[in-house]
Amino acid sequence: MKIFGNYRKSKPIALLIASLLAALVTGCGGGGGGSGTVPATSTTTYTVSGSVSGISVSGLKLTNNAANEITVNAAGAFAFTTHLATGKTYNVQVSQNPTAPVQTCTVSNNAGTIAGANITDVNVVCSVLTLTIQGISNTAPGQTPIVTFHVSSNGVPVNILTTPFASLIATIAGPTTDYATYLQAKIQGSGVVGTLIAVDAPAGVFNYTFPVTGAIPLTATGSYAIGLEGYVLDAAAYPGIRFSIVSPILPFVVTGVSSAAPRRVVVDDAKCNACHATITAHNGVNRGVQYCAFCHNPNKSNDTQVARFENAIIVAQSMDMKVLIHKIHRGTALTQPYIVGGTPAPTLTNPSGTPIDFGSMTGFPAGSNVGACITCHLPGTYDIPLAQGLLASTATKFTCIEDPLLDTDLYCNTGSFNGTTIQTQPITAACTSCHDASYTAAHAATMTTTTLVESCPTCHAVGATNGIEVYHTLTP
Ligand code: HEC
Ligand code: HEC
Ligand code: HEC
Ligand code: HEC
Ligand code: HEC
Repeated sequence: MKIFGNYRKSKPIALLIASLLAALVTGCGGGGGGSGTVPATSTTTYTVSGSVSGISVSGLKLTNNAANEITVNAAGAFAFTTHLATGKTYNVQVSQNPTAPVQTCTVSNNAGTIAGANITDVNVVCSVLTLTIQGISNTAPGQTPIVTFHVSSNGVPVNILTTPFASLIATIAGPTTDYATYLQAKIQGSGVVGTLIAVDAPAGVFNYTFPVTGAIPLTATGSYAIGLEGYVLDAAAYPGIRFSIVSPILPFVVTGVSSAAPRRVVVDDAKCNACHATITAHNGVNRGVQYCAFCHNPNKSNDTQVARFENAIIVAQSMDMKVLIHKIHRGTALTQPYIVGGTPAPTLTNPSGTPIDFGSMTGFPAGSNVGACITCHLPGTYDIPLAQGLLASTATKFTCIEDPLLDTDLYCNTGSFNGTTIQTQPITAACTSCHDASYTAAHAATMTTTTLVESCPTCHAVGATNGIEVYHTLTP
């Protein structure tokens, strides 16, 4: 059986090259015409084409530049009928997902500028593997939860006891008012814990009981949420590619509330996917932006991955979702470094670890603006005040107290790497993740009381004198 998911090829590089070429072409073609110069007109036009992968596809519709809709009724090659000249942009999107069987298709390598050649590598992958969480029990503090879930491929149930995932992991995070902690348990793959049994294997229904180490914390109250992440491999046909599920999420009651309260929803997968077919972090395994917040919570700093040198002071940055994603896309417009340790973590022989300089990213593609909040946000979710009781974002400042003369390596040993937390209140964290100048931090600190109440909405709420709509684009 072949199972397909979705993945992204090196689109940003392709985009970058395409836009560089477009800039060159524009530069040459203008003939000194001043502003508003158009590329030299040419009668040559080029095709936009690509391929669709999936077991079977029926009823898939694609558009280019929101027009020229074509129906694709089989996996394989497709081409748009409208041809485009050099300098024109193309943007391929799924306008209707396959109807029989129901699948979700995603596009990659799907946008750019025509630069003297046919576009042949638009990639459409139709995901066939679906997980749904049917229920969860045993969720009081101290109990080990039992989660019931359903697996299907192209609408057909899958028996994962005979066709296992390469990796299937359950994550529990809480409380849903603002995630503060998370725990994980491996259901399938290497390092399995807990117990997986079939409820009805032919129907694709299974029960997983968490291990004792995965018990709900004794101090937990309110609602928590469970999410699943998993992928399969098809090493023969697609070496190196992990076909990942979109994480299903289910909120549940721990104690003290009568019904499960879901966490607030701030951004929309579809908006991220308009540029990213798959986010490359975590090898593309984590799909579904609501799931990211399970771990990228306000308490999460980059503590385990940050560089560890003797005799050094280093700040492990906040990995809170709003800080991380705002900063990544602000990119080169940041005034201070945002260097994050990736995987693998630092070791004795490599105290640097795997630093990733997100501040050097070119951020949004030309034509888009990171100040256009609605590009990622659901309407209104960028506005302040925020929900009550949100947590402060945390960074950790590490000071190494190891005497460098005690050993011959440069690595700061455990026990000598002492961290103190730096907390930033939630509104300030959101605004200063893009506006990172020290004078802005000073302005925000001045506008926060000693009891940590932020006065920002008085001036910056939508409709106030200096409301965010005055400075940012809140409509598309
Ligand atoms: C307007 C286009 C656009 C939108 C919308 C967008 N991004 Fe990005 N994103 C980019 C570009 C461009 C880069 C930097 C280029 C690269 O990937 O190397 C990037 C980089 C990233 C990265 C780091 C590289 C990687 O792939 O892991 C992450 C993570 C990311 N974006 C997450 C998101 C999330 C989450 C959303 C939605 C909340 C989102 N992006 C919305 C264009 C966009
Ligand atoms: C199960 C927990 C978990 C989930 C879910 C998760 N992350 Fe992460 N992420 C981490 C950890 C742990 C690190 C390592 C750095 C650290 O310790 O802070 C990390 C690192 C990163 C990094 C920086 C390093 C790198 O490898 O690029 C990015 C970017 C990132 N995550 C984006 C995302 C996005 C986007 C999502 C959702 C699509 C997501 N993460 C979901 C736990 C998670
Ligand atoms: C590249 C995508 C992207 C853009 C553009 C963007 N944001 Fe965000 N924003 C996010 C993500 C992701 C989060 C965290 C979502 C979550 O926690 O579920 C977030 C969170 C926030 C929050 C906290 C909301 C909450 O309830 O916790 C505020 C406030 C915010 N953004 C303001 C803005 C403003 C103002 C703009 C425009 C100037 C903006 N954002 C532009 C991605 C983006
Ligand atoms: C996702 C990034 C992002 C976030 C988050 C964001 N801004 Fe901005 N903001 C911008 C951009 C881009 C501009 C346009 C000027 C520029 O490029 O710096 C801008 C401009 C402004 C300006 C005009 C003055 C200036 O510095 O140019 C104000 C005031 C402002 N923002 C306030 C806020 C406040 C208050 C928040 C939090 C509620 C916020 N911003 C959150 C990106 C952001
Ligand atoms: C008494 C009104 C007032 C309050 C309260 C206030 N600000 Fe501002 N803020 C301003 C004005 C005025 C500007 C400058 C606007 C301009 O450039 O036109 C500004 C600018 C900013 C900017 C843009 C970056 C910069 O430095 O130019 C950010 C970000 C910002 N404020 C964040 C905050 C945050 C976070 C809070 C709460 C902790 C806050 N502000 C409270 C009035 C206020």
